[in-house]
Amino acid sequence: MRLRLDPRLRAVLNEIRCYTLADIGCDHGRIAVGALLEGRAEKVLAIDKSAASLHKCKLLGEEAGVQDRLDCRTGDGFEPVKEGEADFAVIAGIGGREIVHILEKANYRGKLLLLPHQDSHELRRFLSGRYHIMKDFVISCGGKYYCLIVASQGGYNYSEAEIYFGRNLPQSDDYLNMLAAERVKLSKIVCGNHLTEGEIVQKWKEAEKLCQKYGISSNG
Ligand SMILES: C[S@@+](CC[C@H](N)C(=O)[O-])C[C@H]1O[C@@H](n2cnc3c(N)ncnc32)[C@H](O)[C@@H]1O
Repeated sequence: MRLRLDPRLRAVLNEIRCYTLADIGCDHGRIAVGALLEGRAEKVLAIDKSAASLHKCKLLGEEAGVQDRLDCRTGDGFEPVKEGEADFAVIAGIGGREIVHILEKANYRGKLLLLPHQDSHELRRFLSGRYHIMKDFVISCGGKYYCLIVASQGGYNYSEAEIYFGRNLPQSDDYLNMLAAERVKLSKIVCGNHLTEGEIVQKWKEAEKLCQKYGISSNG
């Protein structure tokens, strides 16, 4: 069976290599089932706080014939995962603030793949100094930009520019395109409303500095 995977899900799967994967917020199950079908994990703990979402994952697992290695559990964040039970965890398609709540409560020490669908700066502020950031790059998918962060235990201090726009690690054109688009969007807000202070102004200033660093002209 071949799963339909968009560039965002493809990028997530490409990063997974483990024995037991915990897929937190598994919903449709394409990450959980894809990891088993592609031999990226031996076992998957598929977790979702919604029983209806988890059911979709269970059905996909049965359709793909991987149900023996797919353990579906209802619950909040890592709550249904015992300590040491998983060596890799994915939390994707959930807001940055909610991911922070999940991590604050977690008793999990393995490798993490985080893909917030919004508020990525809030997630990075939390990770900064607490986690080693192995990767932080941008993926373009369906007209939107997403950031994908791979982290482990340790400590990396993000700079203010990185808090907003990531590390561009590994480097990609998607990052440069995201930066150019963000700069245009932020300029319109800041200049249109004559803003002189606040987080949006700070973010715009960081975008301007980064565009200069990467030689991105004001035309994009
Ligand atoms: C938009 S879907 C993302 C599905 C998939 N991970 C992806 O990236 O395509 C978000 C899912 O996360 C679940 N979810 C949100 N917060 C959660 C939490 N604290 N614990 C477990 N599941 C959660 C929701 O019920 C929903 O099914």
